[in-house]
Amino acid sequence: MKILMYSDVHYAPGSRDSRKLTAYALPLIDRLKEIEKEKTYDLVVNLGDLVEDFGDHERDLKNVRFIYDYVKTFKAKHVSLLGNHDIKCLFTRQEMLEYCGNDKASYSFDCCGYHFVVLGTFIYEGDKVVRTQYVSDDDLVWLKNDLADNKLPVIVLTHYGLFPEDMTGSYWFASNPIKAYMMKYDEVRDVLKNHHVLACFNGHQHWTRVNEVEGLPFYTCGSLTENINGDGKPDAVYFEVDINDDKVDIVIKNIRMEG
Ligand SMILES: [Fe+2]
Ligand SMILES: [Fe+2]
Repeated sequence: MKILMYSDVHYAPGSRDSRKLTAYALPLIDRLKEIEKEKTYDLVVNLGDLVEDFGDHERDLKNVRFIYDYVKTFKAKHVSLLGNHDIKCLFTRQEMLEYCGNDKASYSFDCCGYHFVVLGTFIYEGDKVVRTQYVSDDDLVWLKNDLADNKLPVIVLTHYGLFPEDMTGSYWFASNPIKAYMMKYDEVRDVLKNHHVLACFNGHQHWTRVNEVEGLPFYTCGSLTENINGDGKPDAVYFEVDINDDKVDIVIKNIRMEG
């Protein structure tokens, strides 16, 4: 099977952030749509942070609604994870359901003979605190049961990383590395280790990395719009993932923009 994968678009019309080059969000998605037309992909995956929040609920919801509609026009099935910035825009599970089509943070689906696990963080409504980095206890139980029932090779999709990677050199996380990965990552990995996991993909860190931890292969996809070299040009990175039997091939690509 063939997957087109991208991450951290941070759509935010009117933003003046010089690091997240949000003005490129729509042109880059347009280019991805053109790239998708040239080949046949079975799945398109966004690893989260489709929007950049302004802390203005109405404005943020307008942007969420717009960009979620915008990515619906990929030809293949489109899977969009909720990133921390997406969740900050959404105050309740009902809003998640309405705008994102997911009533659960974590869920799974089968595609082309593979079992995809989307492991999300969640909006906890009990104390009205919007949490963006925590997998819930319920979701951990769900993960164990889901994988126990599954016979297919597994692909794991998360926004946060699932291990405490060295963040030296990271623009966003060098001074605060704990913000780069999911809490309870060790409990998640303890479950995954007992199953036939072919690959784990995450975004959030705004750089591209390949790692192996405890036999699990991790691939971090950089941000589409990140001004990663500080030269005013977006990283424009995406993954083309080919999976045949148990073999996963990932080609790291960058979109060339005019001008
Ligand atoms: Fe991000
Ligand atoms: Fe993020």
